Amino acid sequence: MQLICMFSVLVLAIGGLACGQPHVHDEHEVVVRDSVKLKIPPGPSDPQIQFAPLPSAVDSVAIDPTLGYFVGDLGGGVYWVTDGSYNNMFMVSTHGVIVVDTPPTIGHKLLYAIGNTTRLPVTYLVYSHLHADHIGGASLFNTSHPTIIAHAETRNRLATLSPLDPLRPLPNITFEGDYTVFVGNQTLELSYHGPNHNPGNLFMYAPAQRVAVLVDVIFPG
Ligand SMILES: *[C@@H]1O[C@H](CO)[C@@H](O)[C@H](O)[C@H]1NC(C)=O
Ligand SMILES: *[C@@H]1O[C@H](CO)[C@@H](O)[C@H](O)[C@H]1NC(C)=O
Ligand SMILES: *[C@@H]1O[C@H](CO)[C@@H](O)[C@H](O)[C@H]1NC(C)=O
Ligand SMILES: *[C@@H]1O[C@H](CO)[C@@H](O)[C@H](O)[C@H]1NC(C)=O
Repeated sequence: MQLICMFSVLVLAIGGLACGQPHVHDEHEVVVRDSVKLKIPPGPSDPQIQFAPLPSAVDSVAIDPTLGYFVGDLGGGVYWVTDGSYNNMFMVSTHGVIVVDTPPTIGHKLLYAIGNTTRLPVTYLVYSHLHADHIGGASLFNTSHPTIIAHAETRNRLATLSPLDPLRPLPNITFEGDYTVFVGNQTLELSYHGPNHNPGNLFMYAPAQRVAVLVDVIFPG
């Protein structure tokens, strides 16, 4: 039930964002990941739960074929990167860049996306969850020796791989419940509400920019 409520709040929030309605309660901007089409069943019949129509902000973006990726500016130093199927986010702070997820399909292009946005090094990596299709590009950042942050469950599962996956280095910082990343002028709230997409998958929220991310759970449509 908690998840359904969160879902409806987030979907309402997209509607508020697109329509520019300041009165929609609890507005958030939402990074909706994976343009992979999924069949989502109709919402619950409870009349208390209302879904706003999806805004044009969730339409797919045009990706320059010579670049192979698109960078969206969500404001306040938060950027969204997509290759058309996978998405991730990075936050430029006054003290280096925080990267959230490193999908291997985007791969080294993520270095270009960040390098063409800021000269600052990547100092933090956040793993949303352990799946290689979302974090399997992590070792590309090994030259700047970022501090890697993930839920303890994510670390535990990565640590039991035999052999360990060199593409997904073990995190340096782990936590059980909530953890707030403060880097320079940026804040990213990480919270765990129990297994959802998989054990360890984090709810992530940048309060200054009102950007919420819940990977592999919140999709367009
Ligand atoms: C933080 O600093 C970066 C780099 O100067 C800037 O791009 C971004 O807008 C700032 N964000 C906030 C929330 O202050
Ligand atoms: C900017 O992006 C281009 C590819 O579009 C890449 O060749 C170049 O290395 C990038 N610059 C930086 C500083 O990352
Ligand atoms: C860093 O990662 C790259 C790409 O995965 C790999 O080729 C390289 O060996 C790694 N370097 C170190 C020092 O781990
Ligand atoms: C993070 O842990 C790795 C080993 O897993 C270590 O090589 C690296 O120096 C650590 N980074 C920081 C910033 O502590």
